[in-house]
Amino acid sequence: MDISDLYDHNYVPYSKKTSVALVRSENGTWFPGVRIENISYPLSISATQNALFYCLSEGEQPAELFTDEVNASMIPSWEKEFGFTANAINNNDLQNITFKNPVLDSDINKIDHLKQLLDMAVVGESNFPVSAIVKTEQGYFTGVNIECTSWNMGLCAERVAIGKALTFGSTNLMSLEIHTRKGEFSSPCGACRQVIMEHLPKKQIHLHHADDSESIHFSEDLLPHSFSSSSLSNR
Ligand code: THU
Repeated sequence: MDISDLYDHNYVPYSKKTSVALVRSENGTWFPGVRIENISYPLSISATQNALFYCLSEGEQPAELFTDEVNASMIPSWEKEFGFTANAINNNDLQNITFKNPVLDSDINKIDHLKQLLDMAVVGESNFPVSAIVKTEQGYFTGVNIECTSWNMGLCAERVAIGKALTFGSTNLMSLEIHTRKGEFSSPCGACRQVIMEHLPKKQIHLHHADDSESIHFSEDLLPHSFSSSSLSNR
């Protein structure tokens, strides 16, 4: 995958305006991100947030960000929080980069993996780790929740996982697994349910509860009457 593929992996059915972001970690690893819009516009994930939170969810520290969103109003807040510098992207300077590939083999034990993933969550505010795994035609993609001191600048585990899957070109998100150690009943928040409806309609959502029980729900049952409107084009 190279930068031109990343532009193709954008999910921008509403604005048709693509963006990409690349984060180089302190270890020199590259993490990409694309823009992922939602029919409820405020739930959209910017390319920068997608790339940055991919890096953080893998336990790495961002050093530099390259993006065409460099003037986005949220970037200075993340720069201050995570200590990286933001640069305008220059595609010619960023050729031949190898991205960290997050796909996991389909033979992993999902429950063990969900439990291990909890240690990767960035939960300085809540100390409430959440993990997620999304199954795609390419394999499994993982996510953990990433928190910021400004709470609304963070992202839930489910959306971090969906962000990685789309960035790497998955087009068929087949099911989603969610786990939390502390909640009596693991359950996606309302915002995640709306995002799930956009990418996993009619798909199974597996909730792995703190007592090791599991419940399986169709996405429609988790969010009846989800927001949609024929006047918001997704073609
Ligand atoms: N959280 C998730 O990661 N997923 C959900 O669906 C519910 C909430 C996270 C967000 C925040 O980091 C913490 O749990 C407390 O709200």
